[in-house]
Amino acid sequence: MTEVKRRVFSGIQPSGSVQLGNYLGAIKGWVERQSEKENFFCIVDLHAITVQQDPEELRRETRSLAAMLFAAGLDPDQCTVFVQSHVTAHAEGCWLLNCVTPLGWLERMTQYKDKVQRQESVSTGLLDYPVLMAADILLYDAHEVPVGDDQRQHVELTRDIAQRFNHLYGETFVVPEAVIPEVGARVMGLDEPRVKMSKSSAHIRGHAVNLLDDPKEMVRSIRRAVTDSGNEIRFSEDPAKAGVNNLLGIYKAITDRTVEECEEDFASARGYGDLKSRVAEVVVEELQPIRERYYELMDDVGELERMLARGAEQAASVSEPKVEEIKRRMGLVIAGE
Ligand code: TYM
Repeated sequence: MTEVKRRVFSGIQPSGSVQLGNYLGAIKGWVERQSEKENFFCIVDLHAITVQQDPEELRRETRSLAAMLFAAGLDPDQCTVFVQSHVTAHAEGCWLLNCVTPLGWLERMTQYKDKVQRQESVSTGLLDYPVLMAADILLYDAHEVPVGDDQRQHVELTRDIAQRFNHLYGETFVVPEAVIPEVGARVMGLDEPRVKMSKSSAHIRGHAVNLLDDPKEMVRSIRRAVTDSGNEIRFSEDPAKAGVNNLLGIYKAITDRTVEECEEDFASARGYGDLKSRVAEVVVEELQPIRERYYELMDDVGELERMLARGAEQAASVSEPKVEEIKRRMGLVIAGE
């Protein structure tokens, strides 16, 4: 009997530079487990435009993110990497799911409420963002959705939408589960260790380590990380120790060592300066080869386009029939049938 691989779907927005939180919370795990399952990784440009983007910059960022994902180790022979807008099934699936999603479910989403507070004008797309995300996942019958902690609520909503649709129209969707990494699920800002490191603040000096930063800049950002006035290097839930906890968490996620081993590594350290130097070292070591491969890939845009075209074709071969199935379930007439 042939073994049926479990399906995995995840996505990342092409807005702003990829930062260490995206890498440790998502991309690193995608790469490490790409051979175990059937994986789909999507560059979600349709999600990016829910807030206003500069068109030239968005085009550039989309290609750049693709190069970054391949440079980080996603292998087109093992997984499918594609751009969301290249596969029209996503927008179509979103509309179909919109029609079974109660408005109140969307108004309750915390990311939406946060973003609304920070913006003068709010697009309908921003409210609808989680339904598009649900379409992404459900069109592939994904069992698992590897994401950082901040996306947990969106995956919960996806489950609710799947269950509601299955209830209304009969078993159609796999009800997916969020897979949150044990470490790296919540990398915090270096300048403000009580808020998560984010792409939208990545331009603020000292907030994030961006994957394309020059190594010297990476070292500088980590050395300037906010800590506290103590000198004990231990994992801690104490909010006052959030800076040290974050640096240790980064160290742990990169080195794959246990809590005890990490603390042991710093047992003879002379203070936070030593911790920062060592964290900077492992971060640079991890990201340097990725940067190099990234620049090689960006030099051959033709090859990059071909890789993305192949990904889009593979993605469409799964999601287009699924859209038809949804339409049929909802009573739409399929052309030619
Ligand atoms: P996005 O582009 O904001 O982030 C991509 C991934 O990085 C994770 N992440 C973090 N993890 C740990 N610490 C941080 N500081 C940190 N910042 C970001 C995110 O949790 C995410 O896993 N809505 C999604 C994109 C999306 C998607 C999907 C994801 C669209 N459709 C379908 C999964 C499945 C987003 O904006 O991710």
